Amino acid sequence: MKKQLIALVFALMPSVVLAAGGEYPLESAEVDLRDKASLQDGARTFVNYCMGCHSTQYQRYERVANDLGIPDELMMENMVFPASALIGEHMKIGMRPEDSKGWLGVAPPDLTNVARVRGNDWIYTYLKTFYIDSARPLGVNNKAFPNTAMPNVLEELQGRQIIGCKAMPVKKDDKIQKDSLTGEIVMDEQCDVLTVVDGTGVQSEEEFDTTIRNLTAFLAYSGDPIKLERHRIGAYVLLYLAFFFIFAYLLKREYWKDVH
Ligand code: HEC
Repeated sequence: MKKQLIALVFALMPSVVLAAGGEYPLESAEVDLRDKASLQDGARTFVNYCMGCHSTQYQRYERVANDLGIPDELMMENMVFPASALIGEHMKIGMRPEDSKGWLGVAPPDLTNVARVRGNDWIYTYLKTFYIDSARPLGVNNKAFPNTAMPNVLEELQGRQIIGCKAMPVKKDDKIQKDSLTGEIVMDEQCDVLTVVDGTGVQSEEEFDTTIRNLTAFLAYSGDPIKLERHRIGAYVLLYLAFFFIFAYLLKREYWKDVH
């Protein structure tokens, strides 16, 4: 049995290594789950831009409102769709998977746990790396998820992103290289570079990064809503153990005092 298990592990190894190699480098999402304003902004973007297709049906509006510090009335007015829905309901959507599969080719998956499956950095990079590709049915492709069936729903915010060759600063160990004589930045033409066409998006590059960072934070929260609470309780448990240790030690000394 043991031998078979070891054989299985070795048999699976190459596929893991292969899966890891050759993928688009992920950008760090740097989400902060303690930042309520960031989570609120992410929830708003999610409801406005994503819930047309994706549910987060394993959580309820009410729980989200409580955890993110959104008053119930505000939540009902701005974030609960359709109007007949109640605050205690799950965050489901009206679109039926059979229909969306016909329209898009793939039914948009539920996103409650997507951050656990894909990781925060992957989601962040995915939302940032849609680019124009006329060979695709919807006219866009994606770097993190090549040939994705999802349209670029945030294009109006980010702008039109194109792929091509461009002069880029040469980097060594993540540091921009400068010419030692002139002090000028060393440039080199690189291809496969993504560039947003100036003036095509409502948000600047930094604003868009913040929007998708907050959106990623909201999805990270959805996948693990009690993470912060767990860390808080964990700290108390450790404090308690440290405190308890003193008494346990004193008691032990008392018991063993006469033994020697
Ligand atoms: C028009 C419908 C539509 C909208 C709106 C939409 N998506 Fe999608 N999304 C899809 C489809 C379809 C897929 C499946 C892509 C595939 O498997 O090729 C998908 C896939 C994804 C995935 C990858 C899931 C996985 O693990 O495979 C993530 C993450 C995601 N969407 C996030 C978002 C976010 C965040 C928004 C809002 C900004 C959004 N989507 C808006 C249709 C949509």
